[in-house]
Amino acid sequence: MAKDMERSGPSHVAVIMDGNGRWATMRGKPRLFGHHAGARRVREIVERCPDLGVKYLTIFAFSTENWKRTQTEVAGLMSLFRRYIEREARALLENGVRVRFIGDRIRLDEKLVRMMDELELLTSGNDKVHLTVALNYGGRDEVTRAAKRLAYEIEQGRLSHKDVDAECLAGFLDTHVLPDPDLVIRTSGEARISNFLLWQSAYAEYEFVDTLWPDFTADEFAGVVGAYGKRERRFGAVRV
Ligand code: IPE
Ligand code: IPE
Ligand code: MG
Repeated sequence: MAKDMERSGPSHVAVIMDGNGRWATMRGKPRLFGHHAGARRVREIVERCPDLGVKYLTIFAFSTENWKRTQTEVAGLMSLFRRYIEREARALLENGVRVRFIGDRIRLDEKLVRMMDELELLTSGNDKVHLTVALNYGGRDEVTRAAKRLAYEIEQGRLSHKDVDAECLAGFLDTHVLPDPDLVIRTSGEARISNFLLWQSAYAEYEFVDTLWPDFTADEFAGVVGAYGKRERRFGAVRV
C-alpha cells in the first residue's frame, strides 16, 4: 500500500467547537454560560491527545463572522479568552503543550494580543502537543491576507509571479508551520464548515457529531479519532 494510503490515526485533528449557545439555552441560562462550560472541555481533550497519537490539535474559538453577535456576547467571549489564558497557561506549559494562535489579531484588543504573544513565547519550547487556537479566524480572510502579502513581495521585487505555486501561497498562510489537518470534527449536528481552514482541509476527512460542545467528552473525542483509522484516504489516487 502506498504511504499516502496507509490507515493510521490522524496526526492533526481540527475541531469546530459548536453548540455552546444551545447548550445554555436548553438550561434556561445565558449563552455565555455555555461558552464557559465549553472552555472547560478543552483541557481534557488536549490532555488526551498524546495517548491518541494526535500531535496537532487546532480549535475554532471565534470566527471573523462572530463579531455579528450581540455586544454582550462578543465582550463576554473576549473576556473569557483572557481568563482562559490566565488560568490555563501554567497547565499548558507543564503538560508540554505548545500554543499558537491563528487569525487576524488586528481587531482584537491590545491586552488580549499581548497575552496571546506571551503564551506563544512561554510555550515555544514545548513539543508534546501543538495546540492552535483560531481566534478572529476565517479561511477566506486568511487566504486574502496571504494574497495581499504575496502581492506586496512581488511589488517589492523580492518574488516573481513565476515563483507562485500552491506551496508558495501556503507559506503565507497563518498555518504555514503546521501540517494540513487529517480530520475535522464539528459538534452540535451542523454539517457545514463555516469558513474554517478552507485551504488546509482540501483532503481532510470530516466528522459531524450531534453532541453539543460542552457535552463533548475526551472519551467521545477518542472514539471519533479511533474511527478515523478505519477510513481509507486516497488523495485522488486509486488503490493498487
Ligand atoms: C460555538 O458555540 C462557540 C462560538 C461560536 C464562539 P455557539 O455559540 O455557536 O453555539 P450555538 O451554535 O449558538 O449553539
Ligand atoms: C463556527 O460556529 C465558529 C466557531 C465554532 C468559533 P458558528 O456557530 O459561528 O457557525 P455558524 O454561524 O453556525 O455557521
Ligand atoms: Mg454555533
